[in-house]
Amino acid sequence: MLIRTGRDGHTHPLSSEITPHAVWQQRRELMRLMAGGAAGAALATWAGRQALAQVQRPGKLAALPGARSSVAGAATMEKTTDYKDAASYNNYYEFGTDKADPAKNAHTLRTTPWTVEVDGVVKKPGKYALEDLLKLSAQEERIYRLRCVEGWSMVIPWVGYSLSHLVQRVEPLGNAKFVEFHTLADRATMPGIRSSVLDWPYIEGLRLDEAMHPLTLLAYGMYGEVLPNQNGAPVRLVVPWKYGFKSAKSIVKIRFTEQMPKTAWNKAAANEYGFFSNVNPDVDHPRWSQATERRIGEDGLFAKKRKTLMFNGYEAQVGQLYAGMDLKKNY
Ligand code: MTE
Repeated sequence: MLIRTGRDGHTHPLSSEITPHAVWQQRRELMRLMAGGAAGAALATWAGRQALAQVQRPGKLAALPGARSSVAGAATMEKTTDYKDAASYNNYYEFGTDKADPAKNAHTLRTTPWTVEVDGVVKKPGKYALEDLLKLSAQEERIYRLRCVEGWSMVIPWVGYSLSHLVQRVEPLGNAKFVEFHTLADRATMPGIRSSVLDWPYIEGLRLDEAMHPLTLLAYGMYGEVLPNQNGAPVRLVVPWKYGFKSAKSIVKIRFTEQMPKTAWNKAAANEYGFFSNVNPDVDHPRWSQATERRIGEDGLFAKKRKTLMFNGYEAQVGQLYAGMDLKKNY
């Protein structure tokens, strides 16, 4: 995300994309070995990478009840981004606007105890202690591309479960059309909140059918480990066909509404960041093209930009959610 200058029908993942964990692991290893050879000549240059080469890792995920299943997203054949890149090149404005700021500053975030409140037009509102929230469904590992509106992307193995499991449990009422995600805004622990770059708390939203789509993930881990603070611990959203800013971090409230939520980036610059924010190479951001992207980790001297895919490559799964909509107007 850039700070403005100049003034201050559901479908399941395609069966061909559901990969048993062991097979995926082998492929990942193979891709890594292949990439390692090719990358030997390339120079990794992006700023901050060297400085943050040593990222603290929060540790393994606790074993959770329920069968462990693995569902891989559409990005399984791509090399996953190195952990240290995924955990040191972040957008989390509550901890600063520089990409390196969250990894430096987010150690102050207190993630225990943590409660997520569910309210709004819903039959069973309530407060969930994090431990209880995580037990609602079996954990899955999903490899998703994350495409940022700024023009970079990563491929990350997330751990979590489909948000739809929670939504079904709390039973939205007939008039619920949208879901709002409120994230933590704590002045004492989040230095970025002092800045007025966004209207805090950071709020994001989805249409109810988007929230119910099986690809929409409530994530609490990545790379088989607990989420690092800078990646949105202890629980965040990952919506892989939308620009990264829809994937709200450190969620404290999930609210079902009749009205379209007023989201943080839309409030900051409505002409730049629409409610839908589906990844779309044909709809330019007003200040830059969205046709290509830079894959983090492939940014050596000779690295070519990649073509951005419609719905970030998830068109087969989510395209029909937007059938008949003018995607240039509903950006
Ligand atoms: N959530 C909160 N609470 N605050 C933020 O600033 N940034 C968003 C999103 N979620 C953000 C947030 C943006 S712009 C992106 S691109 C992704 O988080 C980045 O996620 P990552 O750091 O795990 O790659």
